[in-house]
Amino acid sequence: MSGSAQSSSLADRFNDRHAVRLRSATWEHAYRAAFADDYPEGTNTNGWYSRTTLECLCTAMRLAPGCTLADLGCGHGGPGLWVAGRTGADLIGIDISATGVALATEQAPRLGLDNRSRFQVGDLTSTGLPDASCDAVLSLDVLLFVPDKAAAVREFARILRAGGILAFTTWEQQGYSERIGADQVADHRPLLEAAGFKVTIHEEPTEWRRQHAALAEGLIAAQAEMSKEMEPATAAGLAAMARGVLADMPARQYVCVVARWRLRPRYWAVRLEGCA
Ligand SMILES: C[S@@+](CC[C@H](N)C(=O)[O-])C[C@H]1O[C@@H](n2cnc3c(N)ncnc32)[C@H](O)[C@@H]1O
Repeated sequence: MSGSAQSSSLADRFNDRHAVRLRSATWEHAYRAAFADDYPEGTNTNGWYSRTTLECLCTAMRLAPGCTLADLGCGHGGPGLWVAGRTGADLIGIDISATGVALATEQAPRLGLDNRSRFQVGDLTSTGLPDASCDAVLSLDVLLFVPDKAAAVREFARILRAGGILAFTTWEQQGYSERIGADQVADHRPLLEAAGFKVTIHEEPTEWRRQHAALAEGLIAAQAEMSKEMEPATAAGLAAMARGVLADMPARQYVCVVARWRLRPRYWAVRLEGCA
């Protein structure tokens, strides 16, 4: 499949999922049952990270009012808006899913964040954002879908200011994944370091295998119920994805990564005092 055909079928798949995520009580129930009190409340996440992981990344980005956060692969916007609400940062969300971007744009005013957030359709490997325009880049459960991960890392570096923070979650796995339709990376650190990042956190959240297994099993068990709330094909796609997650689990690890874009000496004093 060509690169653009691949990304448009991926966008179609996520358009369907974003359209139902916010209104499927059964899908929401599967999340809550799997994560219990570690569910990232208030995000309506479409990802696989816990509240503990999101809070860790939010703290690591050291955002403050006046900072600019880019949430790349923002989906329907919930997690980026959650971070912007907590930190006071301005938010730019980018996703290949037009449905995700439309929902994010709708959600922002409800949270009182429309005056400091905007969302646009785009690919994270070519965001169109100006050079050195962001204080932090967040990307939650997105990189696995990107065929050219080196291009993604170059784009993160290009849009970050000196000393800016990259924070992401993804899976690490050897080789090409037929199921995901993209080359995977067994360890992101060499890629990041080669691009000039200093990796400060690279760790597996302690509970991830239990939480992911519980969510995957919950989605499989809920397929019939979800088919009443969405197109049966969408529910079947979610259950198939969950079976793939369970099958892949022994061969991959879920990681939470934080890396700092190069700090030039002349920026040192400014960066220590915040990013406004
Ligand atoms: C698992 S969802 C996670 C969404 C969101 N980050 C969250 O945590 O809820 C993955 C998202 O990545 C988006 N995506 C995949 N490849 C992308 C790319 N190359 N550029 C931008 N977004 C992409 C999908 O459209 C989807 O919204």
